[in-house]
Amino acid sequence: MASLPTPIAAAAGGFTTPYSSSFTTISSWPLFSKKCSIKSPKQTHHYGVIKCNATDSENNQKRVIESLNNLDRRNVLLGLGGIAGAVNLTSVPSVGASPVVAPDISKCGTNPLTGFKAGADTPEGTDCCPPDSTQIMDFQFPKDDVFRVRPAAHLLSPSYIAKFKLAIKRMKELPADDPRNFLQQAHIHCAYCNGAYTQSSSGFPDVEIQIHNSWLFFPFHRWYLYFYERILGSLIDDPTFGLPFWNWDTPAGMTIPNYFNDSSSALFDSKRNQANLTAVVDLGYNGKPSETSDLEKVTNNLSIMYRQVVTNATDPTLFFGGEYRAGSEPIRGGGSVEQSPHTPVHRWVGDPRELNGEDLGNFYSAGRDTLFYCHHSNVDRMWSLWKTLGGKHQDITDPDFLNTSFVFYDEKKNLVRVYVKDCLRTNQLGYDYQRVDVPWLKSRPVPRTRKSGIAKRSIGRVKKISETSFPVKLNKTIRVLVKRPKSSRTQEEKENEQEVLVVQGIEYDSEQYVKFDVYVNDEDDDNTSPAQTEYAGSFAQLPHKHKGKMKSKTNFRAGLTELLEDLEADDDDMILVTLIPRSGCGDITIEGINIIYV
Ligand code: C2O
Repeated sequence: MASLPTPIAAAAGGFTTPYSSSFTTISSWPLFSKKCSIKSPKQTHHYGVIKCNATDSENNQKRVIESLNNLDRRNVLLGLGGIAGAVNLTSVPSVGASPVVAPDISKCGTNPLTGFKAGADTPEGTDCCPPDSTQIMDFQFPKDDVFRVRPAAHLLSPSYIAKFKLAIKRMKELPADDPRNFLQQAHIHCAYCNGAYTQSSSGFPDVEIQIHNSWLFFPFHRWYLYFYERILGSLIDDPTFGLPFWNWDTPAGMTIPNYFNDSSSALFDSKRNQANLTAVVDLGYNGKPSETSDLEKVTNNLSIMYRQVVTNATDPTLFFGGEYRAGSEPIRGGGSVEQSPHTPVHRWVGDPRELNGEDLGNFYSAGRDTLFYCHHSNVDRMWSLWKTLGGKHQDITDPDFLNTSFVFYDEKKNLVRVYVKDCLRTNQLGYDYQRVDVPWLKSRPVPRTRKSGIAKRSIGRVKKISETSFPVKLNKTIRVLVKRPKSSRTQEEKENEQEVLVVQGIEYDSEQYVKFDVYVNDEDDDNTSPAQTEYAGSFAQLPHKHKGKMKSKTNFRAGLTELLEDLEADDDDMILVTLIPRSGCGDITIEGINIIYV
C-alpha cells in the first residue's frame, strides 16, 4: 500500500538519507541543538539510548542520523528539535492576564457544580478525584541525559512489547490510592473534563474546567502523557521508555496493534468495539458500521488527515482551537485535529455494547483503556509534525495560553504544577517521535466536479443564507448558499489571509456522540466521500457530562482557500454549503454560517 520511498535531501544538514520518507518538510525541522550520541543501542529495538550534551552544529545532526544508519535502524530518523535561540518562556509575565489556573485538587468534586460523581449513571459510578496533597512543586525540566524516542506502535519489537506490557501491569498493581496507579491515571482525564474541577483558583468557582474544545487540548494532553510515560519508565526502571504512538495515519498502522488484543496482557481492555479489533480504523467514523471497503477506508483516512492537518490548520487558532480564558467556557471551537481524527477514533474503539460507549468512546472512561495513551501519543505527534510545515504553523503566543497551568503527580508521587509555555518543545521535555512515513502529506483530495458556477446554478433550488431563518435544526441535511465577501483574490492576498468557513453557535447534546460533515459545492450529497475535494471537514464531539446541563455550544471552522482553488470555483461569489448529519444530530441547532478571513 501507499509507501513512498523517496530519499530526501535534508536541506538543513545538506546530505541525503537512505531512509524512505515522505516527511518532506524534514528540512524545516529545527536544527538540532544538542550534541548527541548513541549510548547503548539495544539490538532488537529501533531506538538507541541517546546521550545529549548541549552544542549546536549541523554536523551533529549528521552524526546522529549516521549512527542510527550504522545500526540499520530503518525508517528511523531521529531529530532533536532546537532549543538554541529559544526564549526562556518560563519568564513570560502574566500581565493583566486571565489564564485558566490549575485546579485546587482539594476542592475536587466538592463544589456544588461538581457535587455529582462523574459517570454516576453508569453501572460502576466513579468518583474521579485524585488523592490530595499538601505540597505542590514547581515543574523542572528533566535534567537527565536520557532521551526518549516514542516508537510507532505497529513497529515494536517483541521485547519492547514485553516491556510495555510489564510497565502497564505494574501500574495496575500499585495500591489503589497511589496517584500513579492505573485507575488513578485514568481518573485524571475524567476529572479535567467531566466537571470535577472548577476555576476556583482563577476566581471563578462556578465555572468548570474543561480541557477539550479549545487551545488547551494539545498542551493538556501533552503534559498528561509526559507524566504517564515517566511513571511507566520508572516502574520498569527504564528511563528511555517512550510511549508508543498508534500510527493510524499510515496504512500499515491503521489497525489496533494486535498485542492490544491479547487477553492475558495488561494492555487488554474488554470494553472495545468487538467488530473493530482487527479492522481498518475509520478516521471519519459516523457512529455506526460502514459499508466502505478497506481500501476506500485507507484512501479516505489519508484524505481526512490531509484536510485536517494541512487545509484546515493553516494558522494556530485553526489547529489548536479557539481561545479559552479564566471565567469562560470553551465556546469558540476545538481545533481541526481534535475534532477529527481524534474524536472519531475514540468512538470507533469504544464499545457499543456499553451504555455510554465505554471505555474510549466517552471522556470520563477513556483513560481506562491502555490504547488511549497510544492514541494520544499520535495526536501529540501531529502537533510536532504540524509545526514543521513552516509559515504560520507556530505555537500560540497569547500569554493566557502560555500561562495556563495544570497539576499532575509525577513518577515520585509529587504533585507538580506545570505551565503550557513549558511544553511547547518536546526536546526540552526529553522526548521525540520515531520518524516514519507521512503519506497523507501527499493525499490532497481529488475534485469530483471541477467547475465554477455551481452555487449560481442552485439558486431557486437552494436557499440563500439571507433567506434562511436561524437558528436552524440539523435533523436533516442542510443546503445553503453562502456569499463570499471576497472572490478572485491574488496569490499574495491568499497567502496573507486564509478564507475560512464558520458554522456558528452549534448547540448540541453533550451526552451523545455528535458528528456532522461539511461539503462545499457538492451537488450530489448522497454519494459523498472524504476523499473528494468537496469534503471540507467534520464536526465531532465525544460524550461528556456537565452538571445540570446537557447542551453545549461551540463553533466549527474549515479552510476554504485551497479547496476552492482545487474546485476552480475561486472566482465565484457564492458557495454551496452542505451540512450532513451523521450521528446524534437530532437536536442540534445552528445559529449561522459565514465566511471570514484569518
Ligand atoms: Cu481528552 Cu482524546 O481526549
